[in-house]
Amino acid sequence: MFYTIVGTQWGDEGKGKIVDWLSSKADLVVRFQGGNNAGHTIKVNKNVYKLNLLPSGIIRNKKCIIGNGVVLDPWALIKEIENLRNQNIIIDENNLCIAENVCLILPIHKLIDEVNEESRGINSIGTTKKGIGPAYEDKVGRRSIRLCDLNDNQNLKLKIKKLYDFHMPRLEKFNKSIDYEKAYEDLIKISNIIKIFSAPVWKMINDAGKQKKFILFEGAQGSLLDIDFGTYPYVTSSNTSSGQIFSGTGFGIKENHSILGITKAYTTRVGSGPFFTELQNDIGDHLVEKGQEFGTVTKRKRRCGWFDSVLVRQSIVINGITDVVLTKLDVLDEIKEIKVCVGYRYNQEIYNYLPFDENIQKKLFPVYENLPGWQTKTFGLKNWSDLPINAQQYISFLESKIEKKISIISTGPDRSHTIDRNNLLSNS
Ligand code: GDP
Ligand code: IMO
Ligand code: MG
Repeated sequence: MFYTIVGTQWGDEGKGKIVDWLSSKADLVVRFQGGNNAGHTIKVNKNVYKLNLLPSGIIRNKKCIIGNGVVLDPWALIKEIENLRNQNIIIDENNLCIAENVCLILPIHKLIDEVNEESRGINSIGTTKKGIGPAYEDKVGRRSIRLCDLNDNQNLKLKIKKLYDFHMPRLEKFNKSIDYEKAYEDLIKISNIIKIFSAPVWKMINDAGKQKKFILFEGAQGSLLDIDFGTYPYVTSSNTSSGQIFSGTGFGIKENHSILGITKAYTTRVGSGPFFTELQNDIGDHLVEKGQEFGTVTKRKRRCGWFDSVLVRQSIVINGITDVVLTKLDVLDEIKEIKVCVGYRYNQEIYNYLPFDENIQKKLFPVYENLPGWQTKTFGLKNWSDLPINAQQYISFLESKIEKKISIISTGPDRSHTIDRNNLLSNS
């Protein structure tokens, strides 16, 4: 059985919790895009784990794979491994493998990310400044340093020099300097630590697939941050949608695949860009506080707003989502009247999808339907029948608008705070 987890909104939907929950039965957990711009928080009893690059299955000592679609900052990886080892998580070459052809993020990419943001001025994207975009640009520009390049020091030095030479003229215009030799020396120092994880992971994943093992593909970010289908240019630099699992890992088996769309019961976004249902008022502040909506990576306060069924329905179609997981229902517990966006008004027209044209997007106004809140505690509930009737009706209303069943409901950060409506976990 194969499962893919993707976020249907702008990220931070609670993917980490659901991957952790589902990975109890997994044989392999695989990351296929993004990098350490991702921040997944997993709570297990009193322990809280923060993951950026490592697949969330590592917490359960599952075999984890970082696929070629990821951009990998080797120093960030080492730090993350150290932090988790300090929390007694085992990480070694038996449970972590990294694609030999994964492209590396070097210090220059972080510098370029900063310079790019500075030069965008008021139109800055609000990136995580982890060098993700510049690293993907170099990948497509065929200049990248890949993990397998660490096998040949002489060539590695030349390649790094070429890469730095390519970017220096622009950086100098911004009075920035950075030394390729230092990057090379620093990389050599850690090269042996990283190389032990290097493997032809595409073979491992396909072999596991043929043997009908349980493979879990873990998406980062959300569909609205997808480089093609998101709110461009306010997006990340990878394809975050499920189609990317094939090119981001080399996995070629298409059948028996469930795609779970992780969806918050409201909407959040970090960084700039359109947000049609944003609440810049007391209710927005309440969602920030109650939902603890602060970025894991950059600690920025997340922008909060009502559920947008237009965007989620679109994400469901683009990703081929089979089941929706609704998270953070408990955060809405105290709200008296809840709004759901069911369309956009543009002049005299109504849109039931998000048009890509930025000029139209700027003039879209959400059309809302109002639903009564439940004003009862749902935190930690484990059974559908225990949910207050208004909460059940809210979920049914969302299902009718997004045209997909909501199979799992998360009512708290812990593993056990989960309503598995169709016994998806026990049947998988
Ligand atoms: P991800 O990036 O999609 O993995 O999500 P994050 O981990 O960045 O953000 C989700 C946050 O919400 C984390 O701190 C989780 O522990 C927490 N969380 C997940 N599900 C629930 C839930 O159902 N209720 C509450 N209150 N918190 C949750
Ligand atoms: P997880 O996996 C939320 C956002 C950044 C910025 C834009 C581009 O935790 O859901 P980048 O550094 O990727 O070039 O920044 O994308 N962003 C995220 N927002 N959750 C994430 O990951 C994100 N990863 C990137 O805030 O707006
Ligand atoms: Mg996150």
